[in-house]
Amino acid sequence: MSFDRKIKIAPSILAADFANFGAECEAIEAQGADWVHVDVMDGHFVPNITFGPAMCAAIRPHIKGVMDVHLMIAPVDPYIDAFAQAGADVISAHVEAGPHIHRTLQAIRAAGAKAGVALNPGTPASAVEHLLDLTDLICVMTVNPGFGGQKFIDMSSKIRELRAMIGDRPVHIEIDGGVDPKTAPLVAQAGADVLVAGSAVFKGGSVKDPAPYGENIRAIRAAAEGVYA
Ligand code: DX5
Ligand code: ZN
Repeated sequence: MSFDRKIKIAPSILAADFANFGAECEAIEAQGADWVHVDVMDGHFVPNITFGPAMCAAIRPHIKGVMDVHLMIAPVDPYIDAFAQAGADVISAHVEAGPHIHRTLQAIRAAGAKAGVALNPGTPASAVEHLLDLTDLICVMTVNPGFGGQKFIDMSSKIRELRAMIGDRPVHIEIDGGVDPKTAPLVAQAGADVLVAGSAVFKGGSVKDPAPYGENIRAIRAAAEGVYA
C-alpha cells in the first residue's frame, strides 16, 4: 500500500447485498472503488451486529485492492491477529473502545497491518495528538457509528485541526458516515482523502446491474475533486 493524498472512494459493504458479498466486492472494484470498507460491529460497542474475521477472510480473494476493516468492537485487542490473518490491509480501532488505544495501535502494526484510529463525533481531535506516529489513518466519524444511511454530521473543523496536526506525516484522513456528492466537497476541502460511502454508492444498483455503482462513485469523486478546481 503506497501513500498518497489523492481522493480515494471506499464503499462500505454494510450497504451491499449480505447474501452476495464476494460478488459485490468484485462489482464495486470493477466500477471504480479504490478501497473496500468493511464495518465490523459487535452489538456492544455499537448497537448493531454485522460480521467477523471469518467473513473478512471469505471476501479477501474477491478484493484486488485495499481491504479496510473498521472495528466497532470492544475489546479490540483479542481480535487483532484474526483480522490481520484474514487479510485486512488497514485495521481501525476506536479511541473510545478501551483505555489502551496506544497499545492497540502498536499491536495492529505488529500484526502486519496499517493502523487506523477512529473518532466518534463527540471525541475531540486532541484525542489522537499523542498517537500520530503510531497511526497510518485517522477515521473521522460523521455519524454516530452503528448504522448506515444516517444523516451527515459536519466535522469540518475537526478535520482541519487533524490535517494541521498531521503535517507531513503519511497519515490518511478518512471520513465515515453520510458521505454523498453534497457532503464530499466539505470534507475534501477540510483535508480528507479517503471517503467511505455506503448508501450513496450502492443505491440504485445490484450485482446484476452494477452500472449505478460506477455512476455513484464517479459522482462522489467528481464532487470531492471539484474543490481543487
Ligand atoms: C457506520 C459505518 C459506516 C456506514 C456508512 O457505523 O461505520 O461505514 O456504513 O454508511 P453511509 O454511507 O450509508 O452513511
Ligand atoms: Zn465504517
